[in-house]
Amino acid sequence: MKVGIVGAGMVGSSAGYALAVMGLASSVVLVDQNHDLAVAQAEDIAHAVPFLSSTIVEAADYVGLAGASVIILAAGVSQKPGESRLALLERNAAVFKDVVGNVLAVAPDAILLIASNPVDIMTQITQRISGLPANRVIGSGTILDTARFRSLLGRHLGISPQSVHSYVLGEHGDSEVLAWSNAKVGSLSLADIAAQVGSPITEHVRATIDDGVRNAAYKIIKGKGATYYGIGAGLARIIKAIARDQHDVLTVSCVTPEIVGVKDVALSIPRVVGAQGIETDLMPDLVSAERDGLEKSARLLKNSVESIRL
Ligand code: 2OP
Repeated sequence: MKVGIVGAGMVGSSAGYALAVMGLASSVVLVDQNHDLAVAQAEDIAHAVPFLSSTIVEAADYVGLAGASVIILAAGVSQKPGESRLALLERNAAVFKDVVGNVLAVAPDAILLIASNPVDIMTQITQRISGLPANRVIGSGTILDTARFRSLLGRHLGISPQSVHSYVLGEHGDSEVLAWSNAKVGSLSLADIAAQVGSPITEHVRATIDDGVRNAAYKIIKGKGATYYGIGAGLARIIKAIARDQHDVLTVSCVTPEIVGVKDVALSIPRVVGAQGIETDLMPDLVSAERDGLEKSARLLKNSVESIRL
């Protein structure tokens, strides 16, 4: 499988590195308007390959994306310390107008995987510009927030995050919703496992984990200027589901005809992902506060997308 990456900054290159580590693609092609940057990142990753896999990693112009099965769009600007994801909208929408056209001209059959923020709105814009079926325009959405939730919950319980099944829904951003009510660990409810391991989920624990998930990016950006390893691995994880046709349940973003009463909006819920892209949407059973939170998140995204003129 050939994977293209447009935008060879920290997110795009971390995704390229994660793909090389996982040995998922036979070839990874990096494209950037700063071609020297793409060349340098591709060479650096290629030098890691002999230790890892046999993936060919190279830089190219758009034409080098021909034949790619999946193309990650990670172009545009990223957040400065204290800046919200939504604040990037105008600038990244302008960048995507060119990028999506250039990509489609050479790889009309590729699945597009959107990473640039605000990712839900960029996913909706990409779907609108490209005219591709919605299931082939996938936003990384809350895949990373879900990972952060599982990691913090797992740490609290002393259980591997891979045995924690909990989801973050809605916007990849400030209005996201942690779905506590249907979290499971192994096959046990959260209350059961917490009692059995002697680590109760108190209000304080909930508030600390909620803050840890919701504000993770702000804290990391304050400390090191950007986040990239987490999302890089998350993007590779989505590509694994596609490359191996795994039918995995992942929280990814996609334009959805109707969700909690809001029509045509891109946000994250658990979705089944395989070789064709998104195969099925899964709507978890939520308590009313979570449902209200999801509706608020969906309306906020819908209003933002309507404010953008393309
Ligand atoms: C993140 O959540 C900034 O969206 C990026 O790490």
